[in-house]
Amino acid sequence: MQKVVEFIENQSSNVCMIGIWGMGGSGKTTTAKAIYNRIHRKFGHVSFVENIREACENDYYRGIIHLQKKILSDVLKTKEKIDSIGLGTNKMETRLRGKRVFIVLDDVTSSQELKALCGNRAWFGKGSVLIVTTRDVHLLHLLEVDHLCKTEEMNIDDSLELFSWHTFREASPPKDFSQLSKKVVAYCGGLPLALEVLGSYLYRRTKPEWESVLSKLKRIPNDQVHQKLRISYNGLEDDLKKDIFLDICFFFIGKDRAYVTEILNGCGLYADIGISVLIERSLLKVEKNNKLQMHDLIRDMGRE
Ligand SMILES: Nc1ncnc2c1ncn2[C@@H]1O[C@H](COP(=O)(O)OP(=O)(O)O)[C@@H](O)[C@H]1O
Ligand SMILES: [Mg+2]
Repeated sequence: MQKVVEFIENQSSNVCMIGIWGMGGSGKTTTAKAIYNRIHRKFGHVSFVENIREACENDYYRGIIHLQKKILSDVLKTKEKIDSIGLGTNKMETRLRGKRVFIVLDDVTSSQELKALCGNRAWFGKGSVLIVTTRDVHLLHLLEVDHLCKTEEMNIDDSLELFSWHTFREASPPKDFSQLSKKVVAYCGGLPLALEVLGSYLYRRTKPEWESVLSKLKRIPNDQVHQKLRISYNGLEDDLKKDIFLDICFFFIGKDRAYVTEILNGCGLYADIGISVLIERSLLKVEKNNKLQMHDLIRDMGRE
């Protein structure tokens, strides 16, 4: 992240495009947010467009229009009427022209999305910065980004530390869990999401429970992240919690926590405690505005 910030700060007057790529769960959104928090105050016009994959996957057309409106309203502070993607593209091109903007497009999946949301450099004024994150490095080559950054696997020490924070609420494991922790960490392949989910799952577990997780991990091929995450879902103590998890996966991502709790309570699911447990297990997050969020890999695992 430091390198990217320095790169941006050393840019002179041109439009600067940065690409961040890496596999799901490797920290792209986290990195983009950290950069955004560091530098957004230096820009008059900013927009952080999170989770484009999710916004566009059910209804591409409406998704893109919604995002075009979001960018225009973030940047111009006005509500724009957009009836078609083409119209939105035109509007963005004319209304953003000459403005010094800072826009983050998080988790882009296709060149179509890029075309509709950031067209080309000529759209933006001098000194603008655009950050695009994606799993597909090819898109960043097409965009001809000025700086490409890959979210690398975490090294063993950092992995162990992140895992320990979730499992023991401390920077390193206690002595009697040191070997077990190292073994579990090795199966996470330096992927922050896996470290977080398995770490949270093992919070306050007994040694036999650790051994059981290890024997499950042993049977999962390295690249099958879903299956590793599923250990945590399978380990939910009762069906009510599993139902809550699945209901949220399918229907309630992005919805208000209190609203969802009320609905699920109405179905007899004891949602207050259920949702708290899912949060404790890192299967679910609550954003600042009380909206429920779930990592797309966890969601896909649930929907499978
Ligand atoms: N450097 C990091 N330190 C601690 N936690 C991290 C780090 N990078 C990512 N994470 C955690 O891992 C999870 C997945 O990261 P995320 O940025 O959402 O990945 P991506 O956007 O690449 O799918 C998040 O819950 C995040 O909090
Ligand atoms: Mg992401």
